[in-house]
Amino acid sequence: MNNVHLVDHPLVQHKLTLMRKKEASTTSFRTLLNELASLMAYEVTRDMALQDVVIETPLEPMTGKMIDGKKLVFVSILRAGTGILDGMLTVVPGARVGHIGLYRDPKTLKAVEYYFKMPQAMRDRDVVVVDPMLATGNSAIAAVERLKQLHPKSIKFVCLLTCPEGLKAFTTAHPDVPVYTAAIDRQLNDHGYILPGLGDAGDRIFGTK
Ligand code: URA
Repeated sequence: MNNVHLVDHPLVQHKLTLMRKKEASTTSFRTLLNELASLMAYEVTRDMALQDVVIETPLEPMTGKMIDGKKLVFVSILRAGTGILDGMLTVVPGARVGHIGLYRDPKTLKAVEYYFKMPQAMRDRDVVVVDPMLATGNSAIAAVERLKQLHPKSIKFVCLLTCPEGLKAFTTAHPDVPVYTAAIDRQLNDHGYILPGLGDAGDRIFGTK
């Protein structure tokens, strides 16, 4: 599928399998999620623009490379997206963070916005939207629609898991937004859960049920 990046690095696959296990504790689920998020951040930032900067090493001057432009923004789709932020910020500590609160109407499965807070100067920034599960795609589609109103320089979407239904919906609504995922699972069930999946990501991250 166009514009979909399957991150198949062995470390990513190994950690994801450990997270999927139903017996994984909240502690190990969180630890693995942090590690996995750092690896996904590494992949999603692979094509960031660089600029030449002149520096001095202890021995002589040289021209090095540094990331160009205003600080990147990670946008978390509440609540589960927040679970990915720490691991991403470990790798990109200077990134700004935005939040979008969307809940899924249990009847229609459609996204309803209840919170939206972004950094200044969004027009000059690259945005990475994060949510562990791209399931129906409704929240992700709504979040990206809302962000497009701010005209950022670019938008990418990062999840851990998705399914053909979610991917189709998202890439149809936003063909210009690349999706980075660690796996594309078999299907969505009638309750909007990914199969085989890993269960409810928010509940597993925060230890709720
Ligand atoms: N959200 C989750 O947390 N899990 C799913 O399987 C689908 C949506």
